[in-house]
Amino acid sequence: MKTKVTKLSEKSSLDVQLKEFAQIIKNGGLVAFPTETVYGLGADGLNPEAVKKIFKAKGRPQDNPLILHISDTNQLNKLVVLVNEKTQKLIDEFWPGPLTIILNKKPIVPEQVSCGLDTVAVRMPSNKIALKLIELADTPLAAPSANTSGKPSPTTAEHVLSDLNNKIEAIIDGGDCQVGLESTVIDLTKETPIIARPGKITKTQIEEVIGKVEEKTNSNKPISPGMKYKHYCPNAKVLIIKSKEQEKLFRSKNPKLKIKILKYDNEIEMAKRLYADFRKSDNLSFDLILVYEVAESGLGKAIMNRLKKASSHQ
Ligand code: TXA
Ligand code: MG
Repeated sequence: MKTKVTKLSEKSSLDVQLKEFAQIIKNGGLVAFPTETVYGLGADGLNPEAVKKIFKAKGRPQDNPLILHISDTNQLNKLVVLVNEKTQKLIDEFWPGPLTIILNKKPIVPEQVSCGLDTVAVRMPSNKIALKLIELADTPLAAPSANTSGKPSPTTAEHVLSDLNNKIEAIIDGGDCQVGLESTVIDLTKETPIIARPGKITKTQIEEVIGKVEEKTNSNKPISPGMKYKHYCPNAKVLIIKSKEQEKLFRSKNPKLKIKILKYDNEIEMAKRLYADFRKSDNLSFDLILVYEVAESGLGKAIMNRLKKASSHQ
């Protein structure tokens, strides 16, 4: 199949430009679209056959469930059993935005989305293109990051094309993603909610709204099935370093290797550019990427989570 890439124009309305892509979704096809975090690979989340195509295109393990993306909070009640007080507070505070909530699902959610779990992950993105596409498709969009499984998530339409060319119907090019790292995922089915994946919305921000939450992101028993798989990996080996001395040491020990150093002015920049820099390093055939660590708090927690995974699976 030929993948159509469309750069959106500011001259014409989103309604007009996105209509054909909403139709592809309605017909059971796959459309990659921008969100504020990373590009998503969307399908009609209530159509099992369409959802199956996502796993095939990405080479995604069959037991790794998908997030359903909605454009209106009314859609949530059709998908999940109970929206309790804590959930409502989080929605009021952080939606639309980079927060994914896990709740007990209703039977309408296909097995193919939840992969055998009783729960489903739901998010309302803030990106206007994403919201309009969901609205026009008139269905929740099942959408993982639009990369080949195991690779860094895509933050531009070019990244999506380089992984999924000829495997999906269309890519909507909406420019660079603002956040650059995937959403914070929180499981609200437990007495004390658990952050399953750190992201832009931090533990402190969440606790200010609903009180104490736990973090299980580094435990041995993953609560998100996806946590046990290889993630975020460029072809080059990734190592986290602390100092200029370490950098010099690596260089002197590996004189033949082509080494890329990644160091950023601040965490917002780092989150935004990290995956793009991983991909750029691969395109330029670097053997080794040395990334300067950041403090594991706030957004730094999400960055270090991804870096540790990228460096542990090689
Ligand atoms: O920012 C994002 O979240 C992006 C954009 C496209 O929205 N999406 C994304 O999806 O990162 P994906 O599939 O790459 O990551 C979803 C994560 C996986 O780790 C998956 O295991 C977990 O959410 N997840 C999904 N449903 C779950 C559930 N019912 N219980 C526990 N974890 C779940
Ligand atoms: Mg992903």
